[in-house]
Amino acid sequence: MDAAKIRVLVVDDIPEVRENLRKLLYFERDIEVVGTATQGEEAIALTKQHRPDIVLMDINMPGMDGLTASEAIGREVPSAQIVMMSVQGETDYLRRSMLAGAKGFLIKPFGSDELVATIRSVHNLRPKVAPQAAPPPGAPMSASFAAAPLAPAQRRDRGAVIAVYSPKGGVGCSTLAANLAMALRSQRDDKVVLVDADLQFGDVGVLLNLTASHTMAELAAKKGQMDGELLDVLLMPHISGVKALLAPAQPEEADLLTTDHLREIIGVLQGMFGYVVVDMAAALGERELALFDLADAVLLVTAPDVPSIKNARLFYDVVDALQYPEGKIRMVLNKADRQNPIGPAEIAAGIKHPVVATVPLDRRAADAAQNQGIPCFMGNRSGLIPQAALRLAELLARELGPEEAAGAEPARAAAAGAAAAGAAAARAKTAVREPAPRNGNGMLARLLGR
Ligand SMILES: Nc1ncnc2c1ncn2[C@@H]1O[C@H](COP(=O)(O)OP(=O)(O)OP(=O)(O)O)[C@@H](O)[C@H]1O
Ligand SMILES: [Mg+2]
Repeated sequence: MDAAKIRVLVVDDIPEVRENLRKLLYFERDIEVVGTATQGEEAIALTKQHRPDIVLMDINMPGMDGLTASEAIGREVPSAQIVMMSVQGETDYLRRSMLAGAKGFLIKPFGSDELVATIRSVHNLRPKVAPQAAPPPGAPMSASFAAAPLAPAQRRDRGAVIAVYSPKGGVGCSTLAANLAMALRSQRDDKVVLVDADLQFGDVGVLLNLTASHTMAELAAKKGQMDGELLDVLLMPHISGVKALLAPAQPEEADLLTTDHLREIIGVLQGMFGYVVVDMAAALGERELALFDLADAVLLVTAPDVPSIKNARLFYDVVDALQYPEGKIRMVLNKADRQNPIGPAEIAAGIKHPVVATVPLDRRAADAAQNQGIPCFMGNRSGLIPQAALRLAELLARELGPEEAAGAEPARAAAAGAAAAGAAAARAKTAVREPAPRNGNGMLARLLGR
């Protein structure tokens, strides 16, 4: 036995596939096929006997299938890394393979380059310490889904995080977040991910008409183990080119995701995307504060009505105490309407913070977009909402985009560090308050008069 070689066991019920895999690997100097098995039980027995580094496992076999066999191998021979093989269209298998402990995935038909690259990558990324004792029965066995080399690792900078937030529900955060993500994507041709951090009632999936085959809930058990490859499996591609990480499908699943989960998720996504646009819930708790800390820019969305303005000011009272760097929180007026006596100037004067951008009211386009699951940006680009999204994207990209950020990085990093320290210190002192009860018709006058 050549110790330098990657030892591979091939498991597939179809003789031609086994033979082809053997042939494909035959000429690789650093890879050796140490055996072949035709079904699950035999795969387990041969893995125990040969102790291969990699088990190339077909997912669908008569008798014991590849998933069950992988779970058993993970328990009994944890040093063997599983690469699951499946045919196209079996997308749910990818997620299930991951949960069964697979570290790589190949979709048939694949070529020798892809095969060899996957084997090497999974082998290189194997745990370098001896695997721990087998997990208790029933526990998911996967240590972590091995990270393939990520293209964005060559970036000069990590992705910019743009949090879209309002302390008042229904002002248009999700609409703006979706259109902004698409505008960023179209304008800069950069990679953009839209994260639905409205964990209980997120509707990014509905707004983008995406089936929630995967959601963030699947990351609940992966704390401390997330990487690009794992997240890539869960990201839902949209026709715009934006990818979406959807909120859990059930409200009760939101509790499974802590601030630590969010920090880890955003951190990994920053390594994969140029922009991480986060659609947030209209709440103010630890999760939201953690997201503000992580964000490079927080778009505080408000609408020209008294409750929205009242909540925006309450929000500023809290975040002013957190001492974020000047300009981190940017107020955006959505549903701006010339017919409405409350415009950006009145709001800026009342809240004592500037309105950096406005998005016009376009009820017909917004309602149609929401009901059809086709964001305005995908339709008529010259519409009011797409145009506003493009202007905002341009503004943000100029300040946060990769080119500028490369030069501005030290300042940004220092500001972020100072902000985090300041925010943490202030948070210890600042209780997050419940919004004060609304005070009838005099509210606007009182707000504007203050
Ligand atoms: N610029 C706009 N003009 C007209 N209607 C808009 C505009 N932006 C959003 N809307 C409408 O406002 C409603 C709320 O929008 P959206 O769901 O995006 O808000 P939200 O702040 O995310 O709400 P929630 O608090 O429920 O998450 C929707 O009916 C949407 O179509
Ligand atoms: Mg929303």
